[in-house]
Amino acid sequence: EKGGYEHFMLKEIHEQPRAIRDTYRGRLLRDEAIIKMAGVEDNMKKFLNANRIIIVACGTSWHAGLVAEYIFEEFSRIPVEVEYASEFRYRNPVITENDVVIAISQSGETADTLAAIKLAKSKGAFVFGVCNVVGSSIARETHAGAYTHAGPEIGVASTKAFTTQITVLTLIALRLARAKGTMTSSNFRLYLQELELIPQKVEQLLKVDEHVKEIAKQYLLSTNCLYLGRGYNFPVALEGALKLKEISYIHAEGYPAAEMKHGPIALIDDRMPVIVIATSKGHYEKVVSNIQEIKSRKGKIIAVVTEGDTAVKEIADHVIEIPESEEAFSPLLTTIPLQLLSYHIAVMRNCNVDQPRNLAKSVTVE
Ligand code: F6R
Repeated sequence: EKGGYEHFMLKEIHEQPRAIRDTYRGRLLRDEAIIKMAGVEDNMKKFLNANRIIIVACGTSWHAGLVAEYIFEEFSRIPVEVEYASEFRYRNPVITENDVVIAISQSGETADTLAAIKLAKSKGAFVFGVCNVVGSSIARETHAGAYTHAGPEIGVASTKAFTTQITVLTLIALRLARAKGTMTSSNFRLYLQELELIPQKVEQLLKVDEHVKEIAKQYLLSTNCLYLGRGYNFPVALEGALKLKEISYIHAEGYPAAEMKHGPIALIDDRMPVIVIATSKGHYEKVVSNIQEIKSRKGKIIAVVTEGDTAVKEIADHVIEIPESEEAFSPLLTTIPLQLLSYHIAVMRNCNVDQPRNLAKSVTVE
């Protein structure tokens, strides 16, 4: 059942090329240059008239929502707010009939997310679900939706659900961009083509596994870890930190790279590994100067860079290369080595990777 892998988590990490492909199959029609999603098409007016989109979710799904915020605003020019479902539901939020709420949930059973949906519905908002589990409570409670086609996710730490959530949300953002005219048709075609190439890039990237394992060996006794990223990769830093916390029980924090100087830099010394995402198109020079600041304080740097990078290689203790892509799609790539890093560290620490302590796959209590 684990398909030859030692853990479900590793199997699910390796399933991502297939899962991402299954998620856009039948929706991304490159030859015709269209995106077909019934749930979006049937409610196009609601999306186009939306004052804003509010995304509600918890945990890793909330991180996917943050990535989507950057993508929606860039591609479709619709203001987006991303909320923890638990905060949203208890805050007496201002919601109107002109708001579109997108609820993201792998399990479709998360109690706080479900309650946020009910609240938004009671205020007249249109609620769209992005779930993995077919027929789940959230899938049933929302007005419309689009499933991720990740297949069953057994490992408690979410991996393929995250990348397929981003895939679905990207498809929606692209569809709305075309409908709104906020993206040229040539850019639209380019993005379709690039998105279609992601699974093979993930496939290629998964070969870094052994290299990441070697890096993991050197940090398995760490007690703290910092993750930094900017732009599209800021949420990936949060997600990388969450993954490490969950399965290896090492304390980790994710930050937008530029926030480092406002506090976290005080933590850096020679025992602090800092994982930095420094893709070539993502505010690269600024991230490189962050890396220099870490270096001068003797922090250990594990950098995720684009293939062919030279500047970071000279400063970082370790580099992990990802294939080149559009920056907006880079989270689908940069996430992969961070998943593998947490996985290997947790295995080497003898942790129960698939069923970490104190955690459940579906959080049906608030
Ligand atoms: C992280 C993780 C949790 C879930 C969160 C939301 O690896 O698994 O943070 O992402 O509990 O769950 P869903 O997406 O099922 O609503």
